[in-house]
Amino acid sequence: MRLVLLGLPGAGKGTQGELIAEKYGIPHISSGSLIREAVASGTDLGKEVDSYIRRGELIPDTLAIEMISERLSRPDCAQGWILDGFPRTVLQAIALDQRLAEIDLDVQMAFDIRITPGEAIERIAKRRMCSKCGAVYHLEHYRSQAMDVCDNCGEQLYRRSDDTEETARTRLVVYMKQTHPVLHYYSRDGRLYSIDGQRPIAEVFADVDYYLQRLANSERAGEAK
Ligand code: AP5
Ligand code: MG
Repeated sequence: MRLVLLGLPGAGKGTQGELIAEKYGIPHISSGSLIREAVASGTDLGKEVDSYIRRGELIPDTLAIEMISERLSRPDCAQGWILDGFPRTVLQAIALDQRLAEIDLDVQMAFDIRITPGEAIERIAKRRMCSKCGAVYHLEHYRSQAMDVCDNCGEQLYRRSDDTEETARTRLVVYMKQTHPVLHYYSRDGRLYSIDGQRPIAEVFADVDYYLQRLANSERAGEAK
């Protein structure tokens, strides 16, 4: 399966990406996580992009495309992948399609996980992340058992540097201007699937999974590449 997850900041791309990865055994690749790892480890890429993330702006297309191309070339991607946060501009979507076409592949489904801007701000303000395993929590809906400690690995939880309300508002504006056109890009040829993201996590996943089971069945029947 080759999937793309789209949606406003806080829509649940990371949350759903993890569930899909767990069920279908393919890697969940979050461009935002890759960038945050690069920043944390102080690589040249990390130093270059840190200020973009803090402002809530997109990093340059060339850097994002290079980073994802390198990730997709690794052996664990041979059976498919879930891209979360990439493509974020039409230029990135075209670059991805071109790269895949060279090896006779394509993006099979792009999911638009839909929530309101108000819900996005609320979720971002209350999100907490594990600094070690990347698990995602919410201060009200999905709390860790012990305050500020990860249930999976016991590590301290933290708040992302771009999860302030002011930066979250910038991210919403950037999404509408630069990423929203990507929805049209995938809808033109029937690859876009719209999901109501404003429901409990399990219900959102059930909708996504309905389409994935159809895709898995067609792959088994040899209809999909
Ligand atoms: P990125 O990390 O991709 O952030 P984002 O798109 O803003 O999305 P988020 O990670 O904030 O939200 P999410 O949809 O993953 O939601 P989550 O599952 O965590 O990008 C960060 C930055 O990196 C960008 O601003 C940009 O600078 C740069 N960047 C990344 N990719 C780039 C690219 N391709 N090109 C250029 N720049 C790029 O859930 C959110 C919260 O809600 C959590 O607390 C969760 O527990 C809770 N939650 C989830 N689902 C539900 C539900 N159904 N009901 C209630 N609560 C829920
Ligand atoms: Mg995310």
